[in-house]
Amino acid sequence: MKTIQLNAPGGIEQLQIVQRDDPGQPGQGEIRVRLHASSLNFHDYLVVTGKIPNADKRIPMADGAGVVEAVGTGVDEFKPGDCVVSCFFPWWQEGAPVEGFAQGVPGDGMDGYAREVAVTPAHWFTGAPCGYSHAEAATLTTAGLTAWRALVVDGGIKAGDTVLVMGTGGVSICALQMARAMGAQVIATSSSGAKMDRLKDMGADHVLNYKTDKNWGERVRDLTGGRGADIIVEVGGPGSLPQSIRAVCVGGHISLIGVLTGMAGNVPTAELMYRQARIQGLTVGSRRHQLDMIRALEVIDMRPVIDRCFALDDIADAFRHQESGNHFGKICLEF
Ligand SMILES: NC(=O)c1ccc[n+]([C@@H]2O[C@H](COP(=O)([O-])OP(=O)(O)OC[C@H]3O[C@@H](n4cnc5c(N)ncnc54)[C@H](OP(=O)(O)O)[C@@H]3O)[C@@H](O)[C@H]2O)c1
Repeated sequence: MKTIQLNAPGGIEQLQIVQRDDPGQPGQGEIRVRLHASSLNFHDYLVVTGKIPNADKRIPMADGAGVVEAVGTGVDEFKPGDCVVSCFFPWWQEGAPVEGFAQGVPGDGMDGYAREVAVTPAHWFTGAPCGYSHAEAATLTTAGLTAWRALVVDGGIKAGDTVLVMGTGGVSICALQMARAMGAQVIATSSSGAKMDRLKDMGADHVLNYKTDKNWGERVRDLTGGRGADIIVEVGGPGSLPQSIRAVCVGGHISLIGVLTGMAGNVPTAELMYRQARIQGLTVGSRRHQLDMIRALEVIDMRPVIDRCFALDDIADAFRHQESGNHFGKICLEF
């Protein structure tokens, strides 16, 4: 079967198309999945470019979607022909995160889904939303579930809330769509005027340019009559957190998700304390969260925004496109 492998020390030019042995038939408790799509996340980019050091010859990509070809004995959740989507944390099935939940993230700590076939334990996948294309389903493993967790699981979103989303990448666009579908007002930011127009077309109530307006946290307060946002989907990290703390309402929630501006920085602790706001770090979510999200997506009939799809052979071009920062929503691989 065709696979993509990442050779040491990493770098987009170190992605190589190779043939590997077919993994064969599923054993007890396993499924065999014919993969048809994946999607690119910033996390995959860090792995591929060697910024998250990885084993030589790793198969990249955390997200995988496809069709069940065969089930092993004892598997009753799936049958051949079912459309499925992979889980980000195969060892975190449900409940609160516990030590060791992050071991073996596909495409990072173990082989991922840039390959034609995978044989895995059945509980490493869930069903895909009814009617989704494989590419649409693949966007859910990482970006979709992160947005869901930020808004619903941790943020406790309710109709009438104001949600702030930052930039126009996969997590943020999905969060915008979910927040609108759940009756929230959305304030969205971008560094590009053209992308700000698209955000408005998608239903953002207000848009701000975080590059030209360095004090965008204050603007969020202005736009909400001085109150601030109830939930902030914080994908920027240390460079944007001070503005997020300025933007959050008293008693509000900041989902700390991203590292786009770096790994560490200063926090205006007194302002955070004054606002009595909560900052909650999060990493994606459990299989139970994914099942709950998919049930909701089927009801609200939300379709992920796909910027562009590339063939598996063109994975390097897909990462170059991500690197350019020109994308809006998700970049996918289809095979
Ligand atoms: N903790 C988790 O579980 C988790 C899960 C998924 C993602 N993440 C993190 O979340 C972040 C976004 O991931 P993604 O996959 O959605 O990325 P992505 O699709 O590559 O999106 C990147 C977008 O973010 C915007 N951006 C860049 N620098 C920014 C800044 N300083 N302030 C605000 N926005 C900025 C840009 O939008 P414009 O072009 O519109 O300016 C850019 O297009 C990454 O740091 C990633 O590691 C974390």
